[in-house]
Amino acid sequence: MTTGHPELISAISSEIVQNGPIPFVRFMERALYHPQFGYYMRQPDSAEHERIGWSGDFYTSSDVDPILGRALAAQARQMDHLVGCPTPFTIVEMGAGKGLLARDCLAAIYAEQDDFASRVRYVLIERSPAMRSLQGQNLAPWLSKPGLITWLEGLEGLAPESVTGLFLSNELIDAFPVHRIQVKDGRTEELYVDYRDGHFVDCLKPLSTDALAQYLEHLNAVWPEGYRTEVNLLAMDWMAQVARRMDCGFVLTIDYGHTAQDLYGPERKDGTFLCYSQQRTNEDPLIRVGEQDMTAHVDFSSLAAVGETQGLHVTGFTNQMSFLMGLGAEEMIGELEPESPEFYAAIQLLKPDGMGSTFKVLVQHKGISRPELDGLKFKPFFGSALAVGANG
Ligand SMILES: C[S@@+](CC[C@H](N)C(=O)[O-])C[C@H]1O[C@@H](n2cnc3c(N)ncnc32)[C@H](O)[C@@H]1O
Repeated sequence: MTTGHPELISAISSEIVQNGPIPFVRFMERALYHPQFGYYMRQPDSAEHERIGWSGDFYTSSDVDPILGRALAAQARQMDHLVGCPTPFTIVEMGAGKGLLARDCLAAIYAEQDDFASRVRYVLIERSPAMRSLQGQNLAPWLSKPGLITWLEGLEGLAPESVTGLFLSNELIDAFPVHRIQVKDGRTEELYVDYRDGHFVDCLKPLSTDALAQYLEHLNAVWPEGYRTEVNLLAMDWMAQVARRMDCGFVLTIDYGHTAQDLYGPERKDGTFLCYSQQRTNEDPLIRVGEQDMTAHVDFSSLAAVGETQGLHVTGFTNQMSFLMGLGAEEMIGELEPESPEFYAAIQLLKPDGMGSTFKVLVQHKGISRPELDGLKFKPFFGSALAVGANG
């Protein structure tokens, strides 16, 4: 049964009635990012819970504990040396949500009161006006520093080869709309959304774009009947665009995700698509339309491959636990009161059977030769693991 935000349901259903069934990727784009009614775009009204946070639909590492922000500050400081201590060293964070990671990272950078702090500029790229307003609130103490923080609505606001520094994102790409596909009668078809008798329903149709067919060809996977998965073409486009905007420095991407071999392996036969509402997951995007988040895990192999074509080289690929340990998480946790809530929160980010391993960290570089980074000291997924080709 279709439920959700009435005006959003009406906007999507009118589009379907007028033009016929829409690819799922279009449905997800409207549900999350419709300019007026989309889940991320509108200001939650007083009857609604917040989107991100402990009392929201889901929480991220940024909500759990400041050690991720502190570790990123330490990593940025090392990157600054590797790119020759430029003025400014620009940190671009895209999809910053409530701005907590930026807040924690800036607090750690300024705690040192050194030359690095005086050269840092922080650019936030955020599509959602509601999120931009939360970022403004959470970053209020930093706004009085002239020129420190600026906002852009999209990547287009950054000129080509304009960034010397660090391009950062946490859980941005898993929030991009995805194509969903399924093997039926030996052929790979695409999931579409139709509107019948007052309800959204899904149906299978031939692939909507050549780009999708090419992606699948490149993956070269052999899947059994009924296999269902997702393809994030927007992530590939994003990677190419980010690479073009880098002059010299690093792209650091944290997200739920896997190598292509793992993501598209035979055991993941139902894909990774999930919806989040009030800290619970479900697999039905046709309910709570515009009132729940939707995500799918990231194919880091394809991201790395696109980066390589645009001059971004893989520095390393690891998980959140190893990344944090390499940047001194043990010492940071050692400073906390044992058994305190902060102690347990920090541990949660490292758990090998939880956030420590489900979140991966891909670091790429441009304009620097063979950099060594503390966050990549531990190398669980180095080397050929990122090679594309799900069966091999
Ligand atoms: C899952 S939230 C992650 C929030 C935050 N990074 C954190 O760790 O809590 C995804 C964020 O990305 C933003 N976003 C999604 N697509 C975007 C785009 N194309 N450009 C800028 N921001 C985008 C959303 O509005 C939202 O703020």
